[in-house]
Amino acid sequence: MNILFIGDIVGKPGRSMVETYLSKLRDTYKPTVTIVNGENAAHGRGITEQIYRSLLSAGAQVVTMGNHTWDNKQIFDFIDQAHKLVRPANFPEGTPGQGLVFVNINGTEVAVINLQGRAFLPPLDCPFKKADELVQEASQRTSIIFVDFHAEATSEKIAMGQYLDGRVTAVVGTHTHVPTADERILPKGTAYVTDVGMTGPYDGILGMESSAVIQKFKTALPVRFEVAEGREQLSAVFIKADKVTGKAQSIQRVLINDDHPFMEG
Ligand code: FE2
Repeated sequence: MNILFIGDIVGKPGRSMVETYLSKLRDTYKPTVTIVNGENAAHGRGITEQIYRSLLSAGAQVVTMGNHTWDNKQIFDFIDQAHKLVRPANFPEGTPGQGLVFVNINGTEVAVINLQGRAFLPPLDCPFKKADELVQEASQRTSIIFVDFHAEATSEKIAMGQYLDGRVTAVVGTHTHVPTADERILPKGTAYVTDVGMTGPYDGILGMESSAVIQKFKTALPVRFEVAEGREQLSAVFIKADKVTGKAQSIQRVLINDDHPFMEG
């Protein structure tokens, strides 16, 4: 049971990296399921139906989201029919969309949960309590449970990893756009990494054009951010797990950029 997860796809540069490399990654790693975070896929904020569909056509089976879920208003037109799109489960009761999806791949059922942290992000329902509820629900149907925890604070992400250790196959962090080097199998068998990193511009600042971000730091005035142009990168993790027990066996970072060229396996 192999899981490939691609971190926050930012704008057109991110989408072009997915188009260029996803089929090569699939040939090399042979994932049973491919999951991508698409919350920055439309110009860095939110997602459109066309982009959602293009990510599925490129080879993703599930698209996860985060704090930018509602930033492109088109989402309200299609989220209720987007059965492979999962948005943070701890949004308020009654929010459109779903926080847990199941996909069946050649008879293997995979549960994908999306949660959002509360440290340095808007207040939401408790992600830990929501995780308890959804892991309980998912485990009635499958032992393969994947969690994308979209959060800012490293401590909150590590806490979630440890909290869910042994109950889910993987907890991967997204949102901060910089890959962390702490990928590991936690003691009770959950694959964990604090942040997968992002897929998009390599030379901007977290995917945005640098001069505007520097200007904002220097002046504290409102500045319009645009997705950066130029060189591109792809950040992902590849997880191997036992299909029956759902326990993870290995987790490997995958980074493609000019400093880490892709090696076909
Ligand atoms: Fe985010």
